[in-house]
Amino acid sequence: MIKMTEFAKRRKQLIQKIGSNGIVILVAAPIAIRNNDCAYFYRQQSDFYYLTGFEEPDAVAILLPHKKNEKFILFNRTRDREREIWDGFRAGQEGACKHFGADEAYPIEALATRLPEILEDHECIHYALGLNKSFDAVLMDSLNTLRGRVRRGSESPLAIVDPSHTIHEMRLIKSSAEIALMRKAAEISVDAHIRAMQFCKPGMNEYQLDAELSHEFQRQGARFTAYHSIVGSGANTCILHYHNNNQVIQNQDLVLIDAGCEYQYYASDITRTFPANGTFSADQRAVYDIVLAAQEAGIHTIKPGASWIAAQQAMVKIMTQGLIELGLLKGKLATLIEERAYFPFYMHHSGHWLGLDVHDVGRYKALDKWRTLEPGMVLTVEPGIYLSRDIPGIPKRWHNIGIRIEDDILVTETGHDVLTKRLPKKIKEIEGLMAQ
Ligand code: GLY
Ligand code: MN
Ligand code: MN
Repeated sequence: MIKMTEFAKRRKQLIQKIGSNGIVILVAAPIAIRNNDCAYFYRQQSDFYYLTGFEEPDAVAILLPHKKNEKFILFNRTRDREREIWDGFRAGQEGACKHFGADEAYPIEALATRLPEILEDHECIHYALGLNKSFDAVLMDSLNTLRGRVRRGSESPLAIVDPSHTIHEMRLIKSSAEIALMRKAAEISVDAHIRAMQFCKPGMNEYQLDAELSHEFQRQGARFTAYHSIVGSGANTCILHYHNNNQVIQNQDLVLIDAGCEYQYYASDITRTFPANGTFSADQRAVYDIVLAAQEAGIHTIKPGASWIAAQQAMVKIMTQGLIELGLLKGKLATLIEERAYFPFYMHHSGHWLGLDVHDVGRYKALDKWRTLEPGMVLTVEPGIYLSRDIPGIPKRWHNIGIRIEDDILVTETGHDVLTKRLPKKIKEIEGLMAQ
């Protein structure tokens, strides 16, 4: 669990980075309707959660410098007996101060009238315009109100700056409490993948394996997936973000599962590919071993000071060489890499940052240079080869062999730690597990 003191520390750090003339405004995620008056399960916006720990909708957080400390003002929902009977507990203003460390809290309904006076005399508003159009309008109205008060001696802000970059650089380096949650998320997801492999039988529907994943996630306290689980068999293994998960698994199929739980807001993201009947065919095996060798080489590059792009370069080299050996590419290795000839078979990046969001925030490039890795970063390494029957000229024996292998990697002081290493990925281990 992330302690309230850690949320407070983050707010302090952010305010120090923003400077004494700035003010930060963060808006809670809106409620999303699924049908009529039924909403999707509410999930707080990640930046808002990162800085407040507050999980309710209809909230606006304002951070401003105040002598040597930051001041944290929360606008949130009021306690409401009638609504709480129907929808559940609300913290209210008292709870915002008592349990979430707000210095002041006001009903959300008071926001539009109070905002101008809060903004007054701050040179720079740090706010991510465009993400929440209804709050954008409230902010613009407040600025107009301030402009109208200029003859009273009020100063209206000079600039609106997006704070996302600053917040996201903070989020990119995980604290020990965050790493503990990500380890837990990874462990639960490992168990879920093991369960799915052990339950898999030809004739099942993909959604029945999806159910086994969800069962294990929830059984262990991870109420949600970090993204829609991808359970694809046969031709669906070649659809990168397949999530219909509604086809019957055939005896000769491969099954690709890309699934990870979210545990206390932190994501995991694992992919394994295995044979539906428990035994890889010779052709499936040949492609699998290329992807596995690439993934191991990609992971091997990860250490502090290494370039973000090193994993991709290592993996492209091995997979291009492998595609030559399979007869699917012809030519010189260096030329094929240069011309990105592998692209019809491997068309995505090596992976992504992982954290509160599955595709977590933080830059990959700065000043046109790929950034270097630092301890505390968490990223995925996930090469794949997708031999879709729709690729022109591809011989039938390779049709529908789609393979991806994905693990979650923490950059440590001395190298890396694969958070998902307990999950088998060698052919022998997978076949052994499925035979049990
Ligand atoms: N599960 C989405 C991804 O691997 O990026
Ligand atoms: Mn994934
Ligand atoms: Mn991923």
